[in-house]
Parts: sequence; C-alpha cells; structure tokens
Amino acid sequence: MYLGAVQPPDATGTVKRTHTIRGILVEKILVTGGAGYIGTILVPELLARGHHVTIYDNFMYGASALLGFSAHPNLEIVAGDVRDPEKVRDAVRGKDWVMHLAAIVGYPACAADPVRANTVNVDGTRNVIDAMQPGQKLMYASTGSTYGKVLGIATEETPINPLTLYGRNKRDCEDLIKQTDLDFVLFRFATVFGSSPRMRLDLLINDFTYQALHNKQIVLFEGHFRRTFLHSRDAAAIYPFAIENWERMAGETYNVGDESMNYTKKEAALAIREKLDYYLHEADIGTDPDARDYEVDYSKLKALRYRAQIDLSAGIDELIKILSVLKVHNPLRNA
Ligand SMILES: NC(=O)c1ccc[n+]([C@@H]2O[C@H](COP(=O)([O-])OP(=O)(O)OC[C@H]3O[C@@H](n4cnc5c(N)ncnc54)[C@H](O)[C@@H]3O)[C@@H](O)[C@H]2O)c1
Repeated sequence: MYLGAVQPPDATGTVKRTHTIRGILVEKILVTGGAGYIGTILVPELLARGHHVTIYDNFMYGASALLGFSAHPNLEIVAGDVRDPEKVRDAVRGKDWVMHLAAIVGYPACAADPVRANTVNVDGTRNVIDAMQPGQKLMYASTGSTYGKVLGIATEETPINPLTLYGRNKRDCEDLIKQTDLDFVLFRFATVFGSSPRMRLDLLINDFTYQALHNKQIVLFEGHFRRTFLHSRDAAAIYPFAIENWERMAGETYNVGDESMNYTKKEAALAIREKLDYYLHEADIGTDPDARDYEVDYSKLKALRYRAQIDLSAGIDELIKILSVLKVHNPLRNA
C-alpha cells in the first residue's frame, strides 16, 4: 500500500527527493514507451518497488498489455506522442527519472517509414532532452545494433558503425544526449527475447521458437553470424539496478547483456532443437539488411555486479509454454 505524500515540484520542475516508504526512496518516474515489449515488464517492476510511474506512450500497438497492472494507484497513464514537445514537457515536469524507451523499434519498422523513424526516434528524443531540467536523470534505451559488423569483440569503446536507419537513429540519439549537461546513462541492449505482455514475434529467438512450434521448420541464413541475447526481464531489471547504482553509472554507456548469451544464429536455432523437433533448413540465399555480426563484451556492467539471470535454455522453455497456446491467426485461412 502507498503510505506517503509526494512533494510537489519546485518552480524549476525539480522534485525534492525526500520521500520514503519504510526507509526506501520513492521516485517519480516517467517511462516513455511504457506500453511496449520491455516497458510492460519494467513498469510493474517499478511499481512493485514502491515508485510512482507515469507511462507516456502513443499506444501504436494498443493498450491491452497494461491491463494486468493498470489499476495500480501509483500508476498514471498519459496518451501522447514524443513528437509533441509541449505534451512531452508536461509529462517530464516534476519527475526524478526519465526512462526513454519510446521509439520505432527495429530496422524493418524504421525502413518501412523512414520519416516516421527519424521524427519519432531522433526528434522525439530531442523533445525529451529539451524538456528535462537539472537534477532530473535520464536512462536511454539504445541498442547493440549501433555496432553493426564488428571484427573481434565489441566493448563500449569500439567505434560504432550502424548499418541501418534504426541503428543510425539510435547513434544520433546517443550523440545528442552526450552533448547535453544532463545526468544520463546509455544502455546498449543485446537482442531481447522472451515473453512480455506486449509480445513481439519479430525478435530472433521469439520468431525461431514460434516457427519451430507452429511451422515445424526454421529457414536459417547467415547461420554463422554472431548475435547476443538478453531476456526481457533482465532487460527491464537494468533500470532499477541503475537507480540503485547511479553514482557509479552516471555519464556512461553500457552494453547490457551477458557473455554467456553470445551465440551464432545457428547455435541459437540448435538450442531450440534441443527442446522441439523441427526441420532446420540452412538456406544459401538470404541476407540480413543490418548485417549484424558481432560479439559483445559486458565486463563494464559486470564489474558493477549486474548479472543476467535467465539463460537461453530457460527463456526458450518459457517461450514454448506460452507460444504453444498463442497462435497468430492468419485471417486468409479457414484453419
Ligand atoms: N527489444 C529489443 O530487442 C531491444 C534491443 C535494443 C534496444 N531496444 C530499445 O528498447 C526500447 C523499447 O523497445 P521494445 O522492444 O519495448 O519496443 P516496442 O516497439 O515494443 O515499444 C516501443 C513503444 O514506444 C511507443 N511509441 C512508438 N512511437 C511513439 C511515439 N511517437 N510517441 C510515443 N510512444 C511511441 C510504442 O507504442 C511502444 O509502446 C526501444 O527504444 C528500443 O530501441 C530494444
């Protein structure tokens, strides 16, 4: 139960951070993109820790993924577009933290509408930055896609070389944020997998598991390309971890993942075949436009004692459980 009273923001919009419940600091947090795949795991986790959370989202994929926690008294929901500077300013005002996740996510979605990608991903981030006041803290969801194709192992110091509009958008946002005086951290996430209230089947492990279950085959190209994965709950977990470790993390970029989750695409497909009987078709043709082939070093985050908890095998087990009953209906087929 929520026990305390929230301090009103002062004239600059900054909240005095003296509010606690049983000695634990209660934060006012804005989560843009809070209705998304990662956001709908992150928001209930923040609420469970006693924080006050505002979701700011345009609900382009609907709002039903919020139903499991929408009644929580410490949750506020704002329908808005990150391209609307006034509305973003209103949403940011008075918050201690801004977790900026809202975006057009993934290279196919960005390529489908480049103008939308540029305006949402880059202009939207600029609106968030411009709305922030000294004392407010920003966590930005960037991606390992910014690395592109890397020889050797990518550390945070490796020059990034994004090969798609999505990757370039994320790089541009990283650069924008670094040019500010804001207190920030940048997260370069591995490819996330696993279940979420706002499920995504366009992510590699989720897609492969679905194909293996329902089509009994996976068509694999560029199977030797190296990729790196992170479970959806581990991706969400980095945010409360960063709140608790802010003094050590601020101003830095972190690869978020775990070395034990670096796999080639073929190894990932074979991990699924240990659990499901399906035909793996290794195709000679087919290329990934983002040509991502990279192995990532996570020692910077590990040095702070962050550990991903859910490995590929456990995450696939979870996926099989839910995807067995979550069949996508093709409206052009009778059965
Ligand atoms: N899922 C991954 O594998 C992954 C990997 C690396 C980085 N990321 C980053 O993490 C963040 C969240 O990704 P996700 O997988 O949850 O994606 P998602 O597509 O499920 O969530 C994005 C959310 O942003 C919202 N949104 C889109 N356009 C908006 C706009 N104009 N105004 C307001 N809200 C808008 C959507 O409605 C959605 O709820 C993104 O910034 C993404 O780039 C994700």
